[in-house]
Amino acid sequence: MIPDKAPGDDVLHASGDLKKEAHIPSFEKYKELYIKSVESPGEFWGDVAKDFFWKTKYTGKFLDYNFDVTKGEIFVKCMEGATTNICYNVLDRNVYERKLGDKVAFYWEGNEPGDEKTVTYRELLQQVCKFANVLKSQGVKKGDRVSIYMPMVVELVVAMLACARIGAVHSIVFAGFSAESLCERIMDSQCCILITADGFYRGDKLINLKLIADEALQKCRDKSFTLDKCIMLKHLTKEEALSGSLSPPAKRACPDLQVPWNPEIDLCWHSLIGGASEECEPVWCDSEDPLFILYTSGSTGKPKGVLHTVSGYMLYTAATFKMVFDYHSDDVYWCTADIGWITGHSYITYGPLANGATSVLFEGLPTYPDVSRMWEIVDKYHISKFYTAPTAIRLLMKYGSEPVQKYKRTSLKILGTVGEPINPEAWQWYYNVVGEKKCPVVDTFWQTETGGHVMTPLPAATPMKPGSATFPFFGVVPAILNESGEELEGPSEGYLVFKQPWPGLMRTVYGNHERFETTYFKKFPGYYVTGDGCRRDKDGYYWITGRIDDMLNVSGHLLSTAEVESALVEHEAVAEAAVVGRPHPVKGESLYCFVTLNDGINYNQKLEAELKKQVREKIGAIATPDYIQNAPSLPKTRSGKIMRRVLRKIACNERDLGDVSTLADSSVIEQLFENRCCTAV
Ligand code: WTA
Repeated sequence: MIPDKAPGDDVLHASGDLKKEAHIPSFEKYKELYIKSVESPGEFWGDVAKDFFWKTKYTGKFLDYNFDVTKGEIFVKCMEGATTNICYNVLDRNVYERKLGDKVAFYWEGNEPGDEKTVTYRELLQQVCKFANVLKSQGVKKGDRVSIYMPMVVELVVAMLACARIGAVHSIVFAGFSAESLCERIMDSQCCILITADGFYRGDKLINLKLIADEALQKCRDKSFTLDKCIMLKHLTKEEALSGSLSPPAKRACPDLQVPWNPEIDLCWHSLIGGASEECEPVWCDSEDPLFILYTSGSTGKPKGVLHTVSGYMLYTAATFKMVFDYHSDDVYWCTADIGWITGHSYITYGPLANGATSVLFEGLPTYPDVSRMWEIVDKYHISKFYTAPTAIRLLMKYGSEPVQKYKRTSLKILGTVGEPINPEAWQWYYNVVGEKKCPVVDTFWQTETGGHVMTPLPAATPMKPGSATFPFFGVVPAILNESGEELEGPSEGYLVFKQPWPGLMRTVYGNHERFETTYFKKFPGYYVTGDGCRRDKDGYYWITGRIDDMLNVSGHLLSTAEVESALVEHEAVAEAAVVGRPHPVKGESLYCFVTLNDGINYNQKLEAELKKQVREKIGAIATPDYIQNAPSLPKTRSGKIMRRVLRKIACNERDLGDVSTLADSSVIEQLFENRCCTAV
């Protein structure tokens, strides 16, 4: 399946210097270890587990699973019976065993240049212990769910690790989500407490986070769910004595900051932590105890609470971080993702900290105050490993190479991407201009569900092909299936599936195991189905072709068409809506929405603005439609199914519609072409 030799001609190789020190220095070494990881997972992952602290040893099989729905319930278990604590492993172990107490864990770089803060492993451990004690004093116990809705500040890491320390389950909601989305997630996971902040700036824009959080809690109450504790961090509020705080005072005045305060519910982070003890014994958890829930879009419209458990996730994020970024102790690593997404969970918090790495935690935007910001930060902290998204690369590419070349970037060694397929043009720009042909690019394919990288080059071992996620990571066995579920050999294209689990795979959909089985295991019994399409070339390289379900990928964020459609039809003017993706040069895909209005309602700009607002309020700014088209009728089959395939063509103005013989009324098509939106709203 994996070629014996590194394929020759049209590939790019890492430099000799990188190979000399690399953990996996050659393709042959990769192949040798890969075979071991697949044939003897217990031995392979057992070696990884030796680096960690186990309070008690596991009982039974190292990795136990059933992937076949026809044989019974789907399950994955790793090191069941062992007890450990992930917070202890990423902090205490680094401070006490590995003597890294004075090493910098995070360089925090605020939205505003000059707003900065350094936090060592020892300081982080102290803050986490204090906050863990705060949570305990508020009655939070092992197994309880804690909702976290915060900007990119060090306290977000403190809050998540404090949960992990006491065995509570964190459910982080990206701070760009709306009140409605936050409410839905709080209710689904039945959280007992919410942790938030007063507000933050994204570039020039002030986000009144506490105001939105309050709205979410009100919505919960309206639906008879009461969450009566909210801890708020003062991030922008100026106050003389923020005792125990890690946040620096904000550098800019924020007269528009609105901080509603209800003394019966609201608690101040700083007052609570000020009096808390620095001693907090970790709660020893079973390997398969839940660690966190993270919601991801589902094709039915209702987000799925992806659940990860302690040990498998710990081993997998630690190992992928170390090998995919070829981590060494003098590296300074920067992942530009938000911790509200899985990339931030795995590759800002858990993976880097498990390795004792020094990272940059960045609050701001790549274009603020100007389009050189990323490269300025690279030089400022001497970043050696840099991980970002194709959408950010394409955005910066538009401004040419000059803003990049203003900075030296000589510290860079490895570049990474994640979130969506990277087009070869963006890959080349990243490799040639940003990395000056000296840095391998690791195009890492993975999902919230997979916990960590599953298809990825290893920087010194895998010859690169621009746009290909290359080969599987250790323990991962991919296959390509056709519509009938047959495995395709050699060069082929079809559904990307995995044949056996690796430690970091999700365990269930929180509160809905049946949905877990249906979504990922029913279509092709015996396989985990990614929902992505994939092509394998003559050299065995894998090329991810994008989602094949009703999911869109906008700027690396997954959105379900159903979710956006339901937000649109909730507007009183809308009778029906159909949403499709239209290729976008920066965002990858943009949202093109067709709306059918109720009788007697006229389409106008005011309505269009209201619809946009409606979607932003229901889901969040990431789901804002780019195009809205008035569609008095939609193309439907005789059985009433909307033909999205046809709508996708109309959105792109492509006349070649393929077979439309099943259409109930073909005159609809011409009308839709005539009313196309040519410019984004
Ligand atoms: C897409 C993000 C191609 C894919 C870590 C996947 C990619 C979805 C890549 C998961 C890549 C992510 N090449 N496609 N390197 N990385 N994707 O759950 O469609 O937010 O299924 O996890 O992003 O998105 P999620």
